[in-house]
Amino acid sequence: MKQSPFVDRTNLHVAVIMDGNGRWAAQRGLPRLMGHRAGAEAVRRTVEAAPELGIRYLTLYAFSSDNWKRPAPEVNGLMRLLSSYMRSEAANCYRNGVQVRVIGRRDRLQPQVLEAVRAAEILTRPCNRVFLRLALDYSSRDAIIAAAQRLAGTGDFSREGFSRALGQSIGLDGTTPDVDLLVRTSGEQRLSDFLLWECGYAELYFTPLLWPDFNAAELERAVREFHSRNRRFGAVAAPAIVSEHLLASGD
Ligand code: FPP
Repeated sequence: MKQSPFVDRTNLHVAVIMDGNGRWAAQRGLPRLMGHRAGAEAVRRTVEAAPELGIRYLTLYAFSSDNWKRPAPEVNGLMRLLSSYMRSEAANCYRNGVQVRVIGRRDRLQPQVLEAVRAAEILTRPCNRVFLRLALDYSSRDAIIAAAQRLAGTGDFSREGFSRALGQSIGLDGTTPDVDLLVRTSGEQRLSDFLLWECGYAELYFTPLLWPDFNAAELERAVREFHSRNRRFGAVAAPAIVSEHLLASGD
């Protein structure tokens, strides 16, 4: 694996667009909700595998604001699944040091969903081994507009100020580092209104695998691919910086 001086190998922020649940179910002649259920298992596996791979922040796209357009039975089924995931996994997350936070709008969530979210967030608040963010009723464009509204009149036009306001607009208090690696499953190659600002310099990784088939080995493959890339953030290639540094230090 190539080493890059820009990469903190223990504090990675990985974001995932979990796509392909419906196709996974269709391939098996099953209702779409069965695909989502299998997708929830893949979420469990992914969260469990994260710390070993140096992932500190894991942001998963669970339900976009555009997903409200889906048929009511699917929306309701997804909401039930999300609530039951929160209820059944909160204690497990707590034991494993995983802090759970939901990002996105909360005012349109059903009370039972909100209750399950709040309980999981309260229980896991002291945890800091992995920060799991579940994007729920989330739209990056809406979040950007909300952040701009927060900043209007403050005179703060800094990137840091905007990042902070953006975090607040989706329900986060501290600052979350930018996304290092964005993974999308199912062969689709688009961002779908997910973390547009936060992915400014993210490495993109697309896999044809459908989300319910995703597992620890696939996550490791994505992280390895990430480490093999040379991230320059607009600067010069890493070896040039290293040799300049060596010249300057006389080594
Ligand atoms: C996209 O696949 C997936 C979603 C809209 C929902 C994601 C939900 C889960 C992975 C399960 C529950 C999540 C948690 C956090 C427990 P799609 O339905 O668009 O698939 P398709 O493109 O094949 O139809």
